[in-house]
Amino acid sequence: MQYKNPDLKFKVTPSGQIAWESPSNIALIKYWGKKEVQIPQNPSLSFSLNRAHTKTTVNYEPVKGKESSVNFFLNGESNEAFGNKTKIFFESLSDIFPFVKQFDFNISSENTFPHSAGIASSASGMSALALALCDIERTHFHQKDDSEFYQKASYIARLGSGSACRSVYGGFTIWGKIEAQQGTSDLFATPVSEKIHPEFEHIQDTILLVETGAKKVSSRAGHALMNNHPFATQRFQQAHQNLKELLNALQSGDLENFIRITESEALTLHAMMMTSNPYFLLMKPETLQIISIIQDFRNTTHTPVCFTLDAGPNIHLLYPLSVKKQVMEFVKEGLSPFTGNRGWIEDELGKGPQKIS
Ligand code: DP6
Repeated sequence: MQYKNPDLKFKVTPSGQIAWESPSNIALIKYWGKKEVQIPQNPSLSFSLNRAHTKTTVNYEPVKGKESSVNFFLNGESNEAFGNKTKIFFESLSDIFPFVKQFDFNISSENTFPHSAGIASSASGMSALALALCDIERTHFHQKDDSEFYQKASYIARLGSGSACRSVYGGFTIWGKIEAQQGTSDLFATPVSEKIHPEFEHIQDTILLVETGAKKVSSRAGHALMNNHPFATQRFQQAHQNLKELLNALQSGDLENFIRITESEALTLHAMMMTSNPYFLLMKPETLQIISIIQDFRNTTHTPVCFTLDAGPNIHLLYPLSVKKQVMEFVKEGLSPFTGNRGWIEDELGKGPQKIS
């Protein structure tokens, strides 16, 4: 993969505006541990969400000062920290997109979900930004076909935040090289090529908000703790095996194995955190209470519902569309007491990013 291209420079620098809306995603097989630069230690599999997305509008015009500037507005308010972070990110891309140095940028980004709601805003935000940059290239330089376009956007999104590379596609996506699917790579994500069973085609994700504060340990720090982790080697092997088995379950409609693997992955992710040096704990008492109630509910009613967790205490409740009615009654009666006045967010599998005209 060689995206470095010194020719992507303007003789006459244009102005323009490009906007993309891109979803967050929830991983079933977790990416936890990475090598330089943004190479995952194990493959991961996620699905893109439908309603939780970031809409990013990038305005670009010829640079006025000595160097390129980035003004960033998050949900309507100027955000210097995001501006600085984006400027550093753009500078790191100057071999791939030399034209970024020729622009002053005004970027405004809006999330459809509350900040710190346990939904990865870096995944939706970085993928929207990567799509916009690739679209500036596509608009002013050569036209790429769609598959090249999305592959490059996924590559760029990965450099911003690993899990973001999976958000440039809708449906189920794999990031990381696996034997079972040709074309998979550590450098970008690819959509799952096998036919997904109807049970999972409209999979629901109800996010129970146990806590909405900022994370105590960043994902970046958490990934770093997988270096020299006593269980790292076994964990990375296990992720390969779980991914293989999950792909089979997704194709055959095997809900039992889907539930077993998904819950085990979530608990393993947190087990890795709890056995890092230094160790850390992101689950809350309510997280465990909810998990236990979900398992009791499933055992007594045989409703195919399970949980997964991100790097935080909030619960993603996953289930097929066919059982939505009974699951939502269960959420309201059985689980909402543990979410206080924060409540829950209803989401589901989505179709992926969209360009906004
Ligand atoms: C637990 O993608 O946020 O959500 O690459 O450092 O930006 P960086 O990390 P990030 O890590 C996500 C970890 C996870 C699991 C997953 O989404 O696969």
